[in-house]
Amino acid sequence: MSAAKSSFIERAPGFTYRKEGGGLFSRRPEQAVLYCDNVSLPRLAAKYGTPLYVYSASMIRERYREFDRGFRKIPHTVCYSVKANSNLAILRLLSRMGSGFDIVSGGELERVLRVDRRLMRKVVFSGVGKTKEEMDAALRAGILMFNVESEAELWTLASRAAALNKTARVALRVNPDVPAATHPYISTGLHEHKFGIPLREARLLYARARETRYVKISGVSVHIGSQITTAEPFQAAMERVADLVRHLQQEGHRIDYVDAGGGLGISYEDASLPALRDYVAAYAAAVTKPLRGLKVHVLLEPGRVILGPSGVLVASVLYRKQNDGKRFVVADSAMNDLIRPSLYSAYHEIVPVAQTHHSDMTTVRCDVVGPICESGDFLGKDRELPAFEPGEMIAVFDAGAYGMSLASNYNSRPRPAEVMVDGKSVRLIRRRENLRDIMKDEIL
Ligand code: LLP
Repeated sequence: MSAAKSSFIERAPGFTYRKEGGGLFSRRPEQAVLYCDNVSLPRLAAKYGTPLYVYSASMIRERYREFDRGFRKIPHTVCYSVKANSNLAILRLLSRMGSGFDIVSGGELERVLRVDRRLMRKVVFSGVGKTKEEMDAALRAGILMFNVESEAELWTLASRAAALNKTARVALRVNPDVPAATHPYISTGLHEHKFGIPLREARLLYARARETRYVKISGVSVHIGSQITTAEPFQAAMERVADLVRHLQQEGHRIDYVDAGGGLGISYEDASLPALRDYVAAYAAAVTKPLRGLKVHVLLEPGRVILGPSGVLVASVLYRKQNDGKRFVVADSAMNDLIRPSLYSAYHEIVPVAQTHHSDMTTVRCDVVGPICESGDFLGKDRELPAFEPGEMIAVFDAGAYGMSLASNYNSRPRPAEVMVDGKSVRLIRRRENLRDIMKDEIL
């Protein structure tokens, strides 16, 4: 297996193989080692242990910049979707790039507040089950807008705003009934999904909302799903939203914002998607074309497309085993660290961190599994990988989004540490959990 062939090199330029060792006076043989920016992953693993999430700050910045740039022709705000990766250091990095935030809970609100209270004017609050307490916290914080998902929620929000003597700026999240070609668990824009308000009911609800003193209608929002890699569903949804906006404006509503949601996917398996700039340009065209002529400020809620390729999960090989010819690599990282393969049958590329003596060797077909006690615990199936020795390391790619944010303590496993590499500098942005952390809230 050669580094040059690995498609992630094109997708994740922050992660590259570099030659190390060798030479007359070196005790180490020459080998290619995976780097994040200018720091080698073995160095990070030696210092922080494995499993370890490693993020490239330069990639996050670059991807944010490219995304933002795609919308430069129209008034817009990028509201990074906190759920994709909610580490405070990552939120701060993005806020310094000018990002706002899409939140879905009081917990995510608190995270953004901790980063900087002044960010509230760029925060939108989505989700089908906001509690009164969460509404109160967001009203007090003065967020930009609530994306309301049902009539019942609207009246609850109105009553909380009245109680606090605040005005809630509101967009109704409409369900455009548009299919998105993605995994059924992360598709949201069909009427059979729990999300949003059916388009044909929306106008009536807007009319009724207008009568409410503490609610200020400000926009329309939509989100059709995640990991969508073609422009058509975005455009189809936005055409329906644009029709609604036109009707609402004719009816005298002030629709300042159209929130297009998130959902732009990445290429986990190969480099078949266009270069990021062209890819975002096509997406931006799909989103903004239907809105031509409408004077609206567009909000965007990307998560994965910015964070996904910017992070890897580094794990160590514990054992190699074979059951009647079926080969396994048992790593020290499992579905509790990265659940996407188990939950969505998602593919994540797995590569050796160091290409030692393997470089010219043939590969073996194996499943990469973790120590968790269920057969659904795997990071990769049927992969061609070198015959690893225990102690060697692997890197799981495209793990920056929905990796750590979905990690759990299943099997009483502490969650990994996270580090952010920025050029030559390294910051531990979350220390490794320990057993005391795991049990601290339990009562014996
Ligand atoms: N806005 C709303 C209202 C959302 O529900 C989501 C994601 C986003 C924005 C961000 O979507 P993105 O740009 O990241 O696709 N755990 C799954 C993904 C769940 C997505 C949930 N909603 C996965 O690992 O694939």
